[in-house]
Amino acid sequence: MSLIKTPVEIEKLKLGGAILSRALRCAMDACVAGASTVEIDRIARESMESEGAKPSFLGYQISSDDPEYPGTICISINDEVVHGLATPNRIIKDGDVVGLDIGCWYEGLATDMASTVIVGDVSSKVKELVADTRESLVRGISVIKAGALISDISGAVESYLKPKKYGIVRDLVGHGVGHAVHEEPQVPNFKDPRQPKIRLKEGMVLAIEPMVTLGDWRVAQKNDGWTIVTRDHSIAAHFEVTIAVTAEGYELITPWPDVK
Ligand code: MF3
Ligand code: CO
Repeated sequence: MSLIKTPVEIEKLKLGGAILSRALRCAMDACVAGASTVEIDRIARESMESEGAKPSFLGYQISSDDPEYPGTICISINDEVVHGLATPNRIIKDGDVVGLDIGCWYEGLATDMASTVIVGDVSSKVKELVADTRESLVRGISVIKAGALISDISGAVESYLKPKKYGIVRDLVGHGVGHAVHEEPQVPNFKDPRQPKIRLKEGMVLAIEPMVTLGDWRVAQKNDGWTIVTRDHSIAAHFEVTIAVTAEGYELITPWPDVK
C-alpha cells in the first residue's frame, strides 16, 4: 500500500490522533502511586472506545511467531524501555518512571503516540532524562518537511542527545504508520550509514519515537516475549508523536497530551 496518505485520510488521522491523545491523557492522569497497571489499561481503552476508536496494539504481533500483544497501552516502568505489559500484580510506586505508549484505529487508520510520566519524587538526573527525551523529539520533528531526508530527523534527535552522554536505543526505531501499525520507512534515532537515503514526501505519515537511557543503549527482551529492558538496568524514557509531512513542514496528528 502507498506510504502517501490522501488529504481525506490525513483529516481522519487527525480525528483519530485527537481521540488517542485524550486516551493517553486519561492514562497519564491515572498513573499515580498505588494505581494498578490493568486499571490504567482499562481507563485508556474505555476512553478511546467511548469516542469510536479501537485499540491497535491489542492482539498485535510484531511477526507471525511472536505472541499477541495483550493490552491497549504499553506500560514500561523504570528500566523497561517499551512494550511493558499491564498485569494485575503490577502496581505503580512512588519514584517510578512510567512510559505509556498507545495506538488506535479510527476510520480504518492507525495512529501511535507515547509519553513518559514521573510518579512522585525522582532525582534531578531522571527529571533531566525525561525532559531531554521529550526535547529530542521536538528537535527531530522540527526538521521535517517535504524534501528533507529521514536521516535529517535521526541527526536532529541524536545531535541533541549525544553531548549529554545518554544511551540512544538502536534496536527499536520510529516508523511509518497509518494503513498499518508499523509501515516503512524506519526512522532511527541516530545517524545510521546502513539506512537507505529516503526523502520525505508530502502526505507521508510517521511515528517519531526517541528511546533514551541514563546508561548504555543496549536492550534485551524479557521472557514475557514483549517487554524491552535496558541491559544495564538503567532508567529509560520514551516519547512519541505521529506527524504528517507537508510541503512547508509537518502537521501534528497526535496532539501533545501535556500541552493545552
Ligand atoms: N508504539 C509501539 C512501537 O512502535 C507499538 C508497539 S505495538 C505493541 O513500537 F503491540 F507492541 F504494543
Ligand atoms: Co511506534
